[in-house]
Order: sequence, then C-alpha cells, then structure tokens
Amino acid sequence: MHILVTGGAGYIGSHTCILLIEAGYDVIVFDNFSNASKESIKRVEKIVGKEIILIEGDIRNRNDLHSVFNSYKIDAVIHFAGLKAVGESVAEPLKYYDNNIYGTIVLCEIMAEHNCRSIVFSSSATVYGDPHTTPIKEHFPLSTTNPYGRSKLFIEEMLRDLYISDNTWKIVLLRYFNPVGAHASGTIGEDPHGIPNNLMPFIAQTAVGKREYLNVLGNDYNTHDGTGVRDYIHVMDLADGHVKALNKINSFNEVMTINLGTGNGYSVLDMVKAFEKASGKKVPYQIAPRRAGDIAKCFADPTYAKEVLDWEATRSINEMCEDSWKWQSNNPNGYKEEK
Ligand code: NAD
Ligand code: WQD
Repeated sequence: MHILVTGGAGYIGSHTCILLIEAGYDVIVFDNFSNASKESIKRVEKIVGKEIILIEGDIRNRNDLHSVFNSYKIDAVIHFAGLKAVGESVAEPLKYYDNNIYGTIVLCEIMAEHNCRSIVFSSSATVYGDPHTTPIKEHFPLSTTNPYGRSKLFIEEMLRDLYISDNTWKIVLLRYFNPVGAHASGTIGEDPHGIPNNLMPFIAQTAVGKREYLNVLGNDYNTHDGTGVRDYIHVMDLADGHVKALNKINSFNEVMTINLGTGNGYSVLDMVKAFEKASGKKVPYQIAPRRAGDIAKCFADPTYAKEVLDWEATRSINEMCEDSWKWQSNNPNGYKEEK
C-alpha cells in the first residue's frame, strides 16, 4: 500500500515514516521544506535501511500534487503538512489560512480526482480552547484563541462536510496533545528554527548550554505547583497512533475524531525536574509572567483511542526526556551540522 505523507520530513512526520515502513507500508514523502531539512529523511533511511521516495512540492500547488498521484497509485494520505507557530499565526493570519486551509482544500480535491479518499489529519488539542474540566474527552466543546487553532478547527469541519457530501471518504482526525521526545537512536528529532516556542526544545537547549535559562511562564495557575500542566506524549507513541489509524481506516463508517494523549498531566516544573534527572544537567530557570492565551491545564482522556484503535501511549516521562536529550546532545545544532 502506498501512503502519501505530506509534511513527512518534519518532526512528527519523519518519526511516523519509520513506523509506517516497519509496518510494511510504502511511503512517499511530500514536503516543501518550509520547516524541515532533507537530512531528516536521509537519517530515517539509515534507521530503516531503505530508500524513501522524497518529493519536493507544495500542497497548494495542483501540478505538484497531480504529478505525485500520476506517478504512484496512492491508497491513503497522512496529512501533516502545515504551519504550526501560534505567535506567527497571530502576526500573519492569512499565511496560516492559505497554507493550512487552502492547502488542505487543494489536497482533497486532487485526492478525489485520483480516486483516493482516505486521509488521516493532524489536528490538535488546541481545538478544545480552555477546557471547562480535565481530562478532555472528544465530545467537549470546541473553541480557539488564535488563527493557527482556527485553521485546525476549520479543517476538521471542512473534512466533516466533505464526508457528508460523499460518504466514501474515510477520514480520521487525530487530536495531538503535546508531542515531545525523539527516536531512540538520537539521530532524528525536533529541530525548531530560531527561539523555540515550545517548552521541551527550550528545556533541552538550556540543558545543552545554548540558552542561559528557561522562563517559566507563570507560577500562579490553579495547578499542583502553580505552573501550567500539559499532556506530554512521546513522538514515537504518537507515530504509532497513525499506523494504528491507517490499519483500521477502511473499517470506519463515520469521521473518526480521536485524542492522542497519555492521560497524564505534568507541570512545567515537573518537566524541568524530569529532564534534569534524565540528562544529568542543570536546567536553570526563572519565573516570568504568564504567556497571553495560555491555559492552566490540558490533558487527554485517551480511552476512545484505546477502544477504537487499540492504541495507548506506553512511553514514560523519563523516556521522553532521555530521548529528547539524546537528540539534543548529539545534535546541538539540529540537522544543520551535516547539511
Ligand atoms: P513540522 O513543522 O516539523 O512539520 C510540518 C511539515 O510540513 C514540515 O516539514 C514543513 O516543511 C511541511 N509543510 C508545511 N507547509 C507545507 C506545504 N504547504 N506543502 C508541503 N509541505 C509543507 O511540524 P510537526 O510538529 O511535525 O507537526 C505536524 C503536524 O501536526 C502539523 O500539521 C501541526 O500543526 C500538527 N500538530 C503539531 C503539534 C506539535 O506540537 N508539534 C501539536 C498538534 C498538532
Ligand atoms: C507548554 C507549557 C507554557 C515555553 C502549543 C500550541 C498548541 C500545540 C502544542 C500545535 C505551558 C510553558 C512554554 C517556555 C514555559 N501545537 N512554557 N516556558 O502551549 O500547550 O501548546 O504547542 O498544535 O497549539 O499552543 O505548549 O510547549 O508552548 O507550552 O513555561 O519557554 O510550558 O506556559 O504551560 P502549549 P508549549
């Protein structure tokens, strides 16, 4: 079976390619490299011991997509391609609506033209906004606070409408919580450009000495130690969720909306402690003001994923920190060194 992986050179996509290939799928990576390096796929090839078909193209470009669908009989698409920086989406909303929403429209149109109607989409826990309670179940009310989040929510709605118009589509919407960690080889991982937006890369860069200290963004939240609580999930567990979704996609008779989280909530200070233990390095920090739009607590109820995909996260917070550290300490400048 040929699987088109849009955004497959990125952080989550590259890890998912490994498990797809190990599960026997033929993978075609399609990426415009706006936030990725070709080196990630070279390293995936080393891990799996196999060449990967890598196509440089943009999901908004019909010719790019037609040429892939004309060259290969694609059975399903895992759609990771998208922009994901919340702050940038506030400053440049049209860029996000164009890339994420328009890009997905073009992708679905071309898929239908080539008779491919199976798609697994990367949604996000951001669509729950500030949840009224935790753990979060899939039927909770949806709301968003920024253009990035709105792009995810609109795409979810768009894909639901697409299914209503033609129920031969097979659609799985996976709502990720907070992906962290890296492949256990330490050769691939998250490679943010510039100052990281997310907590884990910031901690890792501080531990390795690239940054002086971590700003803990608020210590007056209603949580066990006052700092923000999130559901950090190992990227290899997340990757496994995609393989399980694909394995089952043909058996679904409705649009499936599924949380991928561990069900555990850890605070910023819990993460600092866990990282210090796993790395043997100090992570200096200082308390700073809250970040606009942040919420106190966000963690999943992952029971539906267990029920319908037979999937659950298995890797501990210690493994998440150890693997992030392996990647960060072996590759202090990300993929740049070997370019
Ligand atoms: P990433 O930036 O590492 O990967 C996205 C990939 O898509 C990159 O390789 C980028 O070059 C590519 N891309 C972007 N626009 C494209 C376009 N128009 N055409 C072709 N390729 C394009 O991000 P990631 O962390 O791997 O996230 C993957 C997906 O999961 C994204 O859709 C993201 O919004 C979603 N998601 C991520 C998180 C997270 O915290 N990392 C959480 C929830 C959801
Ligand atoms: C986690 C916690 C911060 C940085 C974001 C997006 C969301 C999703 C995942 C894609 C919070 C605190 C952070 C720092 C800190 N992405 N923090 N110092 O905010 O849960 O979600 O990424 O869909 O859409 O909004 O993740 O890693 O940014 O923050 O104290 O330097 O760490 O306040 O409590 P978040 P995060």
